[in-house]
Amino acid sequence: MARRMLIAGNWKMNGLRQSLGFFEEIRTLVEPGYAVDVLVAPPATLVQAAAQASNGIFIAGQDCHVAESGAHTGDISAAMLKDAGATHVIVGHSERRSDHGERSETVRQKAEAAQSAGLVPIICVGEQEEDRRAGRHTDVVGEQLDASNPGNGDFIIAYEPVWAIGTGLTASVRDIAAMHEFIRGRVAGGASRQILYGGSVKPDNAAEILDLDDVDGALVGGASLKASDFAAIISAA
Ligand code: G3H
Repeated sequence: MARRMLIAGNWKMNGLRQSLGFFEEIRTLVEPGYAVDVLVAPPATLVQAAAQASNGIFIAGQDCHVAESGAHTGDISAAMLKDAGATHVIVGHSERRSDHGERSETVRQKAEAAQSAGLVPIICVGEQEEDRRAGRHTDVVGEQLDASNPGNGDFIIAYEPVWAIGTGLTASVRDIAAMHEFIRGRVAGGASRQILYGGSVKPDNAAEILDLDDVDGALVGGASLKASDFAAIISAA
């Protein structure tokens, strides 16, 4: 089965209710009937309202707890995200790994919790700049990948070299192609697995990245905050 293309926007800790006009704007900017899936991960406070305003765009959480409910102040479960209208959840984003010390074992448990709740987890992996400089990027990503994914069921992988996130630096198309080919060869169900690239994807570099054989879409941060930029990336896919 041919893999579908997914353009996913991660708003991170940005967005107030007034940001919901984004969904109407996208509708006016992108030709109806575009052949790619589109997803937005707003902050948790906007998941429910975004799901109501989304006009066919999938809505994701940016994280979930491993447990379904319980005494975990400030956390949100996958079941809650599902109840609010989300269809996906990002887990193991490098900002969660660095800001909250999340390890791959926890990421895998979160991915499993998401699957149990009926959400598709988008599992992030990616090397630090020093890993790439030292030539150990595939080892690092391979270890993260093995330890973070549930092995079966529905899940998506997002490869995000940490040094390319929010920096304006992107990996070269050659390096992206090589890493995606490596991930596809290593992950369970590789041939049909969706693998996204993330890290400073913008309207002007989206086409060449999305054109690569093993790239099935993008996880877009900064450029997903402005409807015109995000629409341009959708149109490039
Ligand atoms: O989740 C999105 C990624 O972290 C990429 O962010 O496009 O701002 O570099 P960025």
